[in-house]
Amino acid sequence: MKKVTLLYILLFAISTAFAQPQKKSISRDLFGIFIEDLNYTADGGLYAEMVQNRSFEYSPSDIDLRVYYKKGQWHPFTAWEFLKTGNAIAKISLETEHPLNSNNRHYASIEIFTVGSKGAGLRNVGYHGMVIKAGEQYDFSVFLRTYQKGEAKIKLTEGDSILAETTINIDSAKWKKYEATLTSKKNSENASIEILFQQKGRVDMDMISLFPQKTYKNRKNGLRADLAQTLENLQPAFIRFPGGCLTHGDGINNIYRWKHTIGPVEQRIEDYNIWDYHQTMGLGFFEYFQLCEDIGAKPLPVLAAGVSCQNSARRRGDGQQAIPMEEMDEYVQDMLDLIEWANGDIRTTWGRKRAEAGHPEPFGLEYIGIGNEDHITPAFKERFSMIQRAIKEKYPEIKVVGTVGPNPDDKDWREGWAFARETKPELVDEHYYRPPQWFLDNLHRYDNYDRSEAKVYVGEYASRGNTLFNAIAEAAYLTSLERNGDVVSLTSYAPLFARIGDTQWNPDLIYFDKLHVYPTINYYVQKLFSNNSGDLYWSNIIVGAETVSCVQDSKTGDVILKFVNANDEPVNVTADLSSFRQMQKSASQIVLTGNKNMENGKGEFKDTDIQPVTSIIKVGKILTYEMPGNSLTVIRINKK
Ligand code: AHR
Repeated sequence: MKKVTLLYILLFAISTAFAQPQKKSISRDLFGIFIEDLNYTADGGLYAEMVQNRSFEYSPSDIDLRVYYKKGQWHPFTAWEFLKTGNAIAKISLETEHPLNSNNRHYASIEIFTVGSKGAGLRNVGYHGMVIKAGEQYDFSVFLRTYQKGEAKIKLTEGDSILAETTINIDSAKWKKYEATLTSKKNSENASIEILFQQKGRVDMDMISLFPQKTYKNRKNGLRADLAQTLENLQPAFIRFPGGCLTHGDGINNIYRWKHTIGPVEQRIEDYNIWDYHQTMGLGFFEYFQLCEDIGAKPLPVLAAGVSCQNSARRRGDGQQAIPMEEMDEYVQDMLDLIEWANGDIRTTWGRKRAEAGHPEPFGLEYIGIGNEDHITPAFKERFSMIQRAIKEKYPEIKVVGTVGPNPDDKDWREGWAFARETKPELVDEHYYRPPQWFLDNLHRYDNYDRSEAKVYVGEYASRGNTLFNAIAEAAYLTSLERNGDVVSLTSYAPLFARIGDTQWNPDLIYFDKLHVYPTINYYVQKLFSNNSGDLYWSNIIVGAETVSCVQDSKTGDVILKFVNANDEPVNVTADLSSFRQMQKSASQIVLTGNKNMENGKGEFKDTDIQPVTSIIKVGKILTYEMPGNSLTVIRINKK
């Protein structure tokens, strides 16, 4: 044994002589994820619908007209092209007179005077071209109303080349749904879907849709498999949805209403997206809850506290707006109905609706969030209290998550905490987007939080960058959250996803385009913590550095050591594992390190991308380890 190691063991023995290992219970749900339809996370992202603007509901009023790049490009025919083949003579119009239903007001109407060589109709290019795989099946559907019987040709195309084609017979003077399956002969990264009518006269069209059959878990109206798999790989304990600012909305008329997002997709009530695009609600509450179940995560819906977002009402009003008190009973009832919908017996009104949607078993809702980083105004307080009181009266077992403003230390944070001391929600949601040094300077933030007060949900945080150094600063901070896992119960990095080229917020955890997923280094930090969480925290096991942790999973007995070094130079640490009996003699060691200024490719895979590297090591009672500069290391020792 080297002299240095001997010396280290000696020093370790002395330093630990007075500090006995101690364990405490910490939250099992510490590491979750935050989904918000921002950066085209849902429509154009996770939601696998390939047709953009399928129901002609895009409107110039969806967007902030100052958003230069969208000016003039955002209207009911965005992503659509009017097709007239050969010498066809036809006209297309947007109609509202006799819609599919009162929630879905716009539809397209074509009138053909001369059919031409191959008819006339519409083409949709999806989100910058559709990705089609040879041999795979795609489900097409459309609602049509025709004034004469005839045919429509449905084609997948790339330029002049036809990838797949089928014909549907159309015959109904009332709105009717038509469905077909298309199988492509070729791969394409730039495909379109076409619907071409083959007879003279008028046809009305709505909800023109195309889904891959291969969605995540092959679900209908499902999710893009590669993106959902990236989430599954995180093994998050919970999923927060649907926001963020999206949840409390751009003025009261834009507050997210969960009831608008369930049921048949053609009956959902679409709305504009506070992030300057459009919400189809195709990825609605049923799909969110289903995703949670498929991934094995607890659902954490966060709904507005009866007030809108204070700083994003730039088009619909002015600052935080409150639902009028005379409308609050109905709003509160919506919250109660959500709990019944999620957990109620199928004989209840809302439980039955869940069963009718295909899920008779309850979803097991445990947490509900009220409000998102709202200013703590009298209007907020009055409405929050009403909602919380009603929930606790009817469902005392539901854990309410309150909110303490957008920052870690300002007036809203102080007033939010003071309000939480009065109203006693089980948890409050803290948010902070700060530079990496802030995270390194705040490793003791929670050490002195009062354990008898509300627990903390760190619902949104990020260190404003995707370099290795950012990720390591976040990892260092996460060791402090594990150490304080008896008061910090939940955490979620934000934002989660960003579609390259359609991004309103940077940095994000996972970038993607139509073909690929690009996890950031920050993603790997989240994954390493989440995949290696425990419910027991052991202190006085590791010496040599502050940003380390030792947790144990009481179910398996596995012991997990995490070592974070945010310095450029290596640092030695030592762990005394003699408190743990019957452990394996070898362990897995995962190291994330590299050049601290590096970021992973966003839009391309680079040779230099930083990813965790796994190896197997021998472990005894004393483990000495040299942490590389700018690194996170996770060592997992399984119980025999
Ligand atoms: O995560 C992005 C935004 O940051 C959220 O929508 C909002 O809650 C916060 O300000």
